[in-house]
Amino acid sequence: MNSPAIPQNRLNLPETLWWEEGDLYLLDQTQLPLNVVGELQTSLEHVSDSIKALKVRGAPAIGVAGAYGLLVGLKEDRKLGLDDFLKQVHSKAEWLGEARPTAVNLKWALKRMVEFANQQSTTESGELYDLMLSEAKRIHEEDRELCRMIGVHGAELIQPGQGVLTHCNAGSLATSEFGTATSPMYVAHQNQVPFKVYADETRPLLQGARLTSWELQQAGIDVTLITDNMAAHIMSQGLIDVVITGTDRVAANGDVANKIGTLGVAILAKHFGIPYYVALPYSTIDFNMEEGHGIPIEERAWEEVTHFGERRTAPEDIQVRSPAFDVTPHELVAGLITEKGLILPPFKENLQKLYSQG
Ligand code: MRU
Repeated sequence: MNSPAIPQNRLNLPETLWWEEGDLYLLDQTQLPLNVVGELQTSLEHVSDSIKALKVRGAPAIGVAGAYGLLVGLKEDRKLGLDDFLKQVHSKAEWLGEARPTAVNLKWALKRMVEFANQQSTTESGELYDLMLSEAKRIHEEDRELCRMIGVHGAELIQPGQGVLTHCNAGSLATSEFGTATSPMYVAHQNQVPFKVYADETRPLLQGARLTSWELQQAGIDVTLITDNMAAHIMSQGLIDVVITGTDRVAANGDVANKIGTLGVAILAKHFGIPYYVALPYSTIDFNMEEGHGIPIEERAWEEVTHFGERRTAPEDIQVRSPAFDVTPHELVAGLITEKGLILPPFKENLQKLYSQG
C-alpha cells in the first residue's frame, strides 16, 4: 500500500494520526526512525491490530486512535436503523477498548464516544455518525491543547544548564502534538532555555531510542541517548537535575503506571535526591482505581524479550516474563504536571480538589 503524504504538526514533526476525507491514517511508529510512513486503517480489526502492534502507542494517542477507530468500524453501519446502529456503537467500543489494558485513555475516549452517541437526539444513523466524528475531532484537538498546557505549567521545572532524564516516549509521537513529558521540554526550548535531555533507550521495544531521541533531535533539542542500565551512572555523575516521564494511568492516590523500567528510574532518582515528575492530561487519571496495584499490567509476547529486533539473543525454551509497564508508588513522585498546573503531595487530596472528584 502506498504511504500517503504525512501532515506536519506545529512542532514540524509528523502528525501521529490524522483523519482525511473519511479515513483514519496512523503514522506507523514501528518503522521509525528509519521510515516515516503512514498507514490507512481499513477496519475496526485493523485499528485494534495497529494498537496491539504499537503502530500507534502512548496513552493519549491510543485514546484518540480509539475514538477515530470506532468510526472506522461503524462506516458500514450507517445504513442501519438507529437502535441497531447504537448497538454496534456499544459493542464495537467495548471490543476495541480491549486492545491494550494499561493506558486508561483508550477506554476513557471510547466511553466518551459512547456517552456522546447516547445523548444525541437525532433519529438518523448517518447524522449520528457525523456528530460522533465531530466529537472524535474534539477529543483530538483537546489533546493538543491539554498537552501544550502541560508544557506551559512544567517548563519552569527545567532551568538553564540543567540535565533532564526521560524514559520511554511520552512525546509528540505518543500524543496529538506536544507530548506530555516532552511538553515542558518543547516549551522551554521555545523559550530559548538551554538544557540537555538524556533519553533512556527503553528495552525491550526501544521507544526511547527509536522515538524520543528521534523526535527531540528533529526538534533541535540537545538529546543524548543512553541504555537503561546507564541511568544510575549518569545520575551519579551529577548530570541529571530532574526526571520527567509520562504515564499510562494515575490512580486516585497518585501511584503511576508507566513503561517498564520507570519504577527503577524513580528509585534511582530518590537515591540521588533528584526530583521525579510525571506529566499527564486529565484523561490519564483513573479515579475509580484507588491504588496503583490494581492497575492491569499488559504482558507482551516473549519474543520481545528473547529477541533484539529480528535477532534471537536468548536460548530456545528459556522462561521469560514480559510485563510492559510497572507501577511507581506516589511516595517516589515529586509532582504531577497537568494541564491545570503542578500538583504536589498529598496527591489524593490535591487531585480530588483540582478535578472536583469525590
Ligand atoms: O507501550 P507504549 O509505547 O504505549 O508505552 C508508552 C508509555 O509508557 C508512555 O510513557 C505513556 O503512555 C505516556 S505517553 C504520553
